[in-house]
Amino acid sequence: MTKPKVFVTRLIAREALDRIGQAADIEVWQEELPPAYEILREKARDINGMLCMLTDRIDAGLMAAAPRLKVISNLAVGYDNINIAEATKRGIFVGNTPGVLTETTADLAFALLMAAARRIAGGDRYTRQGKWRTWGPQVLLGQDIHGATLAIIGLGRIGAEVARRARGFNMRVLYHDSSRRGAEEECALGTEFVPQLAELLSRADFISLHVPLTPQTRHLIGAREFALMKPTAVIVNTSRGQVIDQAALYRALKDGRIFAAGLDVTEVEPIPPDDPLLTLDNVVITPHIASASFATRTKMALIAAENLIAGLRGETPPHCVNPTARAR
Ligand code: GLV
Ligand code: GLV
Repeated sequence: MTKPKVFVTRLIAREALDRIGQAADIEVWQEELPPAYEILREKARDINGMLCMLTDRIDAGLMAAAPRLKVISNLAVGYDNINIAEATKRGIFVGNTPGVLTETTADLAFALLMAAARRIAGGDRYTRQGKWRTWGPQVLLGQDIHGATLAIIGLGRIGAEVARRARGFNMRVLYHDSSRRGAEEECALGTEFVPQLAELLSRADFISLHVPLTPQTRHLIGAREFALMKPTAVIVNTSRGQVIDQAALYRALKDGRIFAAGLDVTEVEPIPPDDPLLTLDNVVITPHIASASFATRTKMALIAAENLIAGLRGETPPHCVNPTARAR
């Protein structure tokens, strides 16, 4: 029996590639930058499985060009880069990597929260630029984290872990979500549900976004929402860049309508070097690294490998976002 063919769109952990290699003929894209869409579509023509990244757009046109494709395994928990409805219609399973990256992502959200509030990146620039001439009573003042009110938008796995970290800093934790958690869970997490987004935003000192990108969450935070926030507010985004209207964020930061922002994601990635946000001192931006720990990236790669292998066998992947896709 000939082995199934798979394409892996970037170099991932060795252990995962070895695992896939036992089950399939494997081609790995070795470049630092992702394959262009046309190349991806060309590669898709005769493969049975693809292991891809959130930087790869897997749309209807690509699937139409891939008659043998049985499984798309995304190395991410988010899957807004893939047309799920089309995959389901075509009987292609889509896998993702939830769970293993939850705490690593929550750690980074908290790091950005603290960096933005306490001006860590700006302080580092100040030091390197030789501006540290004395201890200054008014220099680089920021916002207290301990005792402040944190609003979590989207209390999923990651949001809940951010809530747990916040409690260690004695924060009051509010949340808003399209579905409310049970009373027991709310109590265990020490969170208070706020049904109105407007009320949540006006009460918060810190706002952290943990929703997936969907038509409903696109530009969830725009000019109207920034206008409701406190002038001392800090917003953190480790979800997807398009959840925030970035032009409105720029204005809010520039005009001092909010204090600062910590972003791991931007509307366009990578953020263009001439983006006006990069001219501001009150924003700290990391290059979409929330899940980027050695241990977590290895675990994600192994899960993505298992999802891929299951799909190649016609089985539902262990972490499948469209289990109703009928295997081909
Ligand atoms: C990263 O953004 C992910 O969705 O895993
Ligand atoms: C993702 O892991 C989430 O549900 O928050």
